[in-house]
Amino acid sequence: MDANKKYTWHKIAASIEEINFSANGLAEIAAGNKTICIALHQNELFACTQKCPHAGGIMAGGHIDATGNIVCPLHRYKYSLSNGRNTSGEGYFLKTFPVEMRQEGIFVGLEKNNLFGLLK
Ligand code: FES
Repeated sequence: MDANKKYTWHKIAASIEEINFSANGLAEIAAGNKTICIALHQNELFACTQKCPHAGGIMAGGHIDATGNIVCPLHRYKYSLSNGRNTSGEGYFLKTFPVEMRQEGIFVGLEKNNLFGLLK
């Protein structure tokens, strides 16, 4: 399926400078009617769900390790920012979202018509 047909794109900011990143390179931001976590790692932007799939840790309160994993602040499980894989091996999966930097600003793609979109 064409990626652009699968997603509804939401503008989250006009530029990277407009996002209020913590010293750890993470921030919470609104995308449509959701709050998500946005990450800046080596000049690249990534997006994932606000809460950890393990026990609801707030991902923006964690940090990014040297290899580009986001580390949850609660129990330190690690997830790849690029694909959500649980790289510390506990078997969870962190939902990630595509990010596009366009001339008009920064956009995050949320999947259309799925159950996840109805839950907050
Ligand atoms: S809540 Fe994130 S690792 Fe437990």
